[in-house]
Amino acid sequence: MVKVSYEQKPFRREVMRTYGADVTPSPSMETQIGQKILAEFPGTTGSLGCAISEAVEKAVTSEGYRYVLGSVLNQVLLHQSVIGLETEAALKKYGIEPDIIVGCAGGGSNLGGLIAPFMRDKIKGKKNLRIVAVEPASCPSFTRGKFAYDFADTGKVCPLAKMYTLGSGFIPAPNHAGGLRYHGMSTILSQLYDDGLMEAVSVPQREVFEAATKFARTEGILPAPESAHAIKVAMDEAIKCRETGEKKVIVFGLTGTGYFDLVAYKKFNDGELDDYIPTDEDLAKGFAGLPDVNL
Ligand SMILES: Cc1ncc(COP(=O)(O)O)c(C=O)c1O
Repeated sequence: MVKVSYEQKPFRREVMRTYGADVTPSPSMETQIGQKILAEFPGTTGSLGCAISEAVEKAVTSEGYRYVLGSVLNQVLLHQSVIGLETEAALKKYGIEPDIIVGCAGGGSNLGGLIAPFMRDKIKGKKNLRIVAVEPASCPSFTRGKFAYDFADTGKVCPLAKMYTLGSGFIPAPNHAGGLRYHGMSTILSQLYDDGLMEAVSVPQREVFEAATKFARTEGILPAPESAHAIKVAMDEAIKCRETGEKKVIVFGLTGTGYFDLVAYKKFNDGELDDYIPTDEDLAKGFAGLPDVNL
């Protein structure tokens, strides 16, 4: 488990332990790649890129083990397309067409799945809807990243993929509480974004938690901080409609519950959550580690 999540999300950790898992914060001293990362970045709070490297090493060095990535890759988007198909069926049942679809984007799997049938119709020219990816301002792969071949993991053991990326060495600031910390983005979504078929915005985390709080008080549902990124932008779009008087159907992906994230909610409620937006110099360090194939 990514070290910063291990510390910030103790309840997710305990669910895993309850089901019988041993949970180790990554980067760890238990793998060679973890040791190498810790030697290079002592005290790092980790990232999904580091955890992937360690998990792959553990899988390939343990008899009978396999590793499957839970985000980013095409098969994950394919699984999540069930959500898109169900959304399409539900909208059809109510006889409504979406004008805007909004989803949070970490590695891009929930968004890729949610938009799949709608993007199909958009590409075929049957629908003219807007699709908006929302990412954290502290890890802005789409909005400030480069469309380049890069490693899927910090230890550089995975194959290269062409994607919007901040560089596999990019590690978001530890004060970021809202997940969506991956340095890159699904290759399918990256191509769609590069082709102008979808938009992306980045949002600072305090505004995300403000939206989450408003949503909880209005709907009675406590959203995961990741989902609250989509909620924030769905609300912004609704406010624009209120101001212009336009009527629009806005669909957003509510990807998870916030009950495992109450440490982050506590920090927000206590005024201890701040925003960190990387500078261009911070991002340049990540880009400097992009593989030479891009030259
Ligand atoms: C609740 C929740 N929603 C969304 C995401 C984002 O992942 P992806 O972009 O792959 O859908 C995460 C990632 O950890 C998550 O925990």
